[in-house]
Amino acid sequence: MTETLRAAAFLDKGGTGKTTTTAHLGVALSEQGHEVLLIDLAGKQGDLAKHFGVWGQYRDQIDADEAWPNISTVFDDAWDTIAGKLGDDAVADLVIATDEGPDLIPAHPGLDTLDAELGNIDDARERYSRLEQFLDEYVDPLSYDVVLIDLPGMTNNVSYNGLWAARHVITPVEMGPFEAEQANALREDLEKIAENFEVDIDLSLVLPNKVDTRTNLAEEYLESFQSAYPDAIAPAYVPYSQDIRNAAESGETAFAIAEPSTTADRAREAYLEAASALVEQLESETNE
Ligand SMILES: Nc1ncnc2c1ncn2[C@@H]1O[C@H](COP(=O)(O)OP(=O)(O)O)[C@@H](O)[C@H]1O
Ligand SMILES: [Mg+2]
Repeated sequence: MTETLRAAAFLDKGGTGKTTTTAHLGVALSEQGHEVLLIDLAGKQGDLAKHFGVWGQYRDQIDADEAWPNISTVFDDAWDTIAGKLGDDAVADLVIATDEGPDLIPAHPGLDTLDAELGNIDDARERYSRLEQFLDEYVDPLSYDVVLIDLPGMTNNVSYNGLWAARHVITPVEMGPFEAEQANALREDLEKIAENFEVDIDLSLVLPNKVDTRTNLAEEYLESFQSAYPDAIAPAYVPYSQDIRNAAESGETAFAIAEPSTTADRAREAYLEAASALVEQLESETNE
């Protein structure tokens, strides 16, 4: 792989599995031999870092005022000047390693006010392209194979930056009527962005999550998602798995579980298949 591929996990709703998906796809891609960087823009609670058991250590740095620069700094007007002064350390200071493969740029309390700060930038292109400028100039030279960005579960200036920078969206969907509507609304939103700004943002991967196949309804929704998103639907769905919840709480992904349950095993398989499909999709969309 030559070019760094990018994708952002997004849906205008909390709790569908954006963070879980970002973490597990990240590890799946690492297991498949890719160098992966994960970026948490989803809020100061640091969920993505918690998935890898590294939030405690980072929060100590934050409390000691030592988490500078951080993810919110890269959106600053003065970032180029700051990075110029820090030299090679500028991005190295942002990134932490995890035990499961991917590198991570964790969230920071500075994300709290970032939406409002970006709102003060008059020019829309400038307002939405700060993250893209950072990735182009500072991250692409590091030669990661894939950068995955976890976004807030709402449409705001921060999530727009993620969509704008990634141009490719991963959407975890739960099986239900409301969720089907939400996915449709997302597709319409992406088309609107394309019209307004002349940037194409592809829905690259729709990943059914928390699927309980004991119910006929789940099967029906699976089928309707398959026909609604024939190009983007993941090759396998992620089942509901208590192991995923428990793993998250003990600071790891389902890939780190020594004796996985049947559902955890199926989830791992699904993430691996989804990761392969994602790379294929990103490569074809990037070369269009
Ligand atoms: N496949 C799954 N099986 C069981 N629990 C899951 C699964 N996917 C996500 N969860 C749980 O659902 C909750 C919300 O997931 P999360 O990834 O934080 O959603 P989001 O980032 O979209 O808000 C978390 O407690 C997470 O552990
Ligand atoms: Mg989240």
